[in-house]
Amino acid sequence: MPQSSTVNRRIILNSRPIGAPTDENFYLEELAMPVLPAGQVLLRILFLSLDPYMRGRMSDAPSYAAPVAVGDVMVGGTVSRVEGSRHPDYQQGDLVLSNSGWQDYAFSDGTGLTKLDPNMARPSLSLGLLGMPGFTAYMGLLDIGRPTAGETVVVAAASGAVGSVVGQIAKIKGCRAIGIAGGAAKCRFVTEELGFDACLDHLSADVPRQLAMVCPKGIDIYFESVGGAIFDAVLPLLNVRARVPLCGLVATYNHTGLQQGPDRLGLLTRTLLTKRITMQGFIIFDDYGDRYGEFLDQMSIWLKEDKIKFREDIVDGLENAPQAFIGLLEGKNFGKLVIRVAND
Ligand SMILES: NC(=O)c1ccc[n+]([C@@H]2O[C@H](COP(=O)([O-])OP(=O)(O)OC[C@H]3O[C@@H](n4cnc5c(N)ncnc54)[C@H](OP(=O)(O)O)[C@@H]3O)[C@@H](O)[C@H]2O)c1
Repeated sequence: MPQSSTVNRRIILNSRPIGAPTDENFYLEELAMPVLPAGQVLLRILFLSLDPYMRGRMSDAPSYAAPVAVGDVMVGGTVSRVEGSRHPDYQQGDLVLSNSGWQDYAFSDGTGLTKLDPNMARPSLSLGLLGMPGFTAYMGLLDIGRPTAGETVVVAAASGAVGSVVGQIAKIKGCRAIGIAGGAAKCRFVTEELGFDACLDHLSADVPRQLAMVCPKGIDIYFESVGGAIFDAVLPLLNVRARVPLCGLVATYNHTGLQQGPDRLGLLTRTLLTKRITMQGFIIFDDYGDRYGEFLDQMSIWLKEDKIKFREDIVDGLENAPQAFIGLLEGKNFGKLVIRVAND
């Protein structure tokens, strides 16, 4: 069903997943549109970003952010048109970035809204390359990774929203960029379109052996987004004074606890010590929120100069958000995953 002006469809967290999320963890609710209160704007959501962090919000395990309550709308970044305004700073037709979640419409008192160019050619980029994922790639690589020309940078989830940008910035900085991605098509895209020097398919390659072959001088920066077996392959190849921006661990988000297996903590800590490696976790807006402007200026220039390419995976229809999100955690997306909630 498409967006209607009299009904607000919302995707609600029905229950907390145990392991991988399923359709049963969500339900779609339809509510009559209430009257716009004074001091508020009515946002008509055009694009909804789907991101791996949302798996964390579905869980009530301790984390850096509060969980979504069962019965509440799923959270998420959105690009919206202002459909009606009783707020002095906004008028009908404004285009805004907000965190309005998985629904057709939302009210806002202006808190957390960012105005976008109302005639922006591709507003969905504000959820990807020019938004949170691009910002994450930029700060994680440049501030924690500190790349210098000639160094080898390895990037996991290399065709995705964050990884695709990390490798391209590494190339701009004169580094060798090696990607790891799931499947031949993603790997071809990473080398042929994005310009990485090599890309290994973690679904078919013997990653430890092939990674050693494509990194003959070892690894200076490993941008960690995945965890698990890929980190195991990277660890012995890290050079003295290597940097590891710890951005995410998507391979573990559906795990219900620590995995069984040999204790590898000793190997990790010995490697960190003897090679004097810096491994630093970061949460993008908590740690770097005040540098968003710097990022946006630089990324807009690179985009205009055609130095950075992007790929979006746009799925039509709010009702398809749960399936698309479930697929994101299985590597089914190819590029930045966005739901087109409505046509502009
Ligand atoms: N720290 C922060 O502030 C911050 C901000 C944004 C994102 N992140 C993190 O950055 C990472 C990437 O996010 P993104 O938005 O760019 O997502 P994405 O790469 O566009 O999509 C997720 C990708 O992860 C890979 N993946 C999923 N399950 C996997 C598994 N079990 N094993 C190996 N790979 C798996 C898949 O790629 P392949 O098919 O290529 O394997 C999938 O396409 C996530 O860990 C996310 O949590 C962190």
